Amino acid sequence: MATAPRTADSAPAVAPAPTGRVFPPGFLWGTATAAYQIEGAADVGGRTRSIWDTFSHTPGKVRNGDTGDIATDHYHRWREDIAIMAELGVGAYRFSLSWPRVQPTGRGPAVRTGLDFYRRLADGLLERGITPVATLYHWDLPQELEDAGGWPERETAQRFADYAALAADALGDRVRTWTTLNEPWCSAFLGYGSGVHAPGRTDAVAALRAAHHLNLGHGLAVSALRAALPADAQVSITLNFHHTRPLSDSPADRDAARRIDGLANRLFTGPVLHGAYPEDVQQDTAALTDWSFVRDGDTALIAQPLDFLGVNYYTPTVVSDAADAPSHGADGHRASAFSPWPGADGVAFHRAAGPTTAMGWAVEPSGLHDLLLGLSREVPGLPLVITENGAAFDDYVSPEGEVLDPDRIAFLHGHLTAVHRAIEAGADVRGYFLWSLLDNFEWGYGYSKRFGAVYVDYPTHRRIPKSSARWYADVARTGVLPH
Ligand code: NOJ
Repeated sequence: MATAPRTADSAPAVAPAPTGRVFPPGFLWGTATAAYQIEGAADVGGRTRSIWDTFSHTPGKVRNGDTGDIATDHYHRWREDIAIMAELGVGAYRFSLSWPRVQPTGRGPAVRTGLDFYRRLADGLLERGITPVATLYHWDLPQELEDAGGWPERETAQRFADYAALAADALGDRVRTWTTLNEPWCSAFLGYGSGVHAPGRTDAVAALRAAHHLNLGHGLAVSALRAALPADAQVSITLNFHHTRPLSDSPADRDAARRIDGLANRLFTGPVLHGAYPEDVQQDTAALTDWSFVRDGDTALIAQPLDFLGVNYYTPTVVSDAADAPSHGADGHRASAFSPWPGADGVAFHRAAGPTTAMGWAVEPSGLHDLLLGLSREVPGLPLVITENGAAFDDYVSPEGEVLDPDRIAFLHGHLTAVHRAIEAGADVRGYFLWSLLDNFEWGYGYSKRFGAVYVDYPTHRRIPKSSARWYADVARTGVLPH
């Protein structure tokens, strides 16, 4: 047995037990990324265009004309990125498969080169004791499927289930934890409603149809995954919950909150977790559509049992009736014709009080605590995993070559405290994935927003762990959050 090192006075140097909030044994500490945001290698190995390639190459759509063509060059640097994760001591890595890298046209057989990339990645993770957690769809629909109508068309749901089967057949021996969709609200309402995300359409009905077909695609994909994966596989969906509250207690403001909660949350949790679409949302949008695109039996296909629910949380959503908005200052902006809120034209949005991140998002850890407790009451027995939480700040490299990001450490500390408090209060939370491992392509903001625990110097692709990475490594390694 190794002897403990001795200090000068020869007393045994026993490391003091870390003090702080102790997370449950087995709690999964991870980091997360997504294919289009980090991989680059846009035309390697038979990969074709996704809607994000087309969108980012369309002038005016992404800040500074940035694209994911090269991104962080993770496709070529994945070994280095795994080594960084190993150094951080994280137990899990959430990444997404690029659909057009695996199945370029969204139909037919998978491409071997694409699958081999993910096989090597998964093997590399497993060798380092890091659990791979694969997301099938983080927004990169093959362009050919968009040309055929995209998510507003029912056919896309079936294509997605076929792709899920291909991916699970090829990778199911190594990857046991799967997520179907990441944040389908964004795919439907930012992609087809406000058009600030790919494919950039501005059609409220298309957005509602897309939401349903994403839900259907999820349900069909869960069945396909179950058929292809071993019985111990874990299958989930990740939703971006809008933790919504009214600006005041007035009936009009409370109704505004109900409407946004309906479109943002219940439109997805309704069919996915409870087997039915919320009637109030159908009524709110009745002037736009009669919802006949939902066929008999669809909700039963969607409501597949899940092993856990992925929760993404960044900031709360504060709303009021638009009639109240002017009196509440410059932060109020209204749902409008091109907003991602069909049927909620009379709603205004407000920034919660307090500090904000570089995204302009209010920092409010208690929102995560309340969200986790609310979900654990709504779906008792369904474990929760925080699949994304993190913050963008204007990080820079100091003359000494360091990136010091105390604001991010404070953000993570606040939110992890909230998670711990939720666990103490009875929420069954099994893991936390920091968004993101690396600075990356932040969609419409391009590379201007840095969410990474690791800084990426884009001209050289050099990776520099920020001080938050070292801080998070300590928490992940000990399972203890310092006070
Ligand atoms: C959610 C998305 O899943 C991810 O892709 C994005 O970068 C982060 N939020 C930050 O906006």
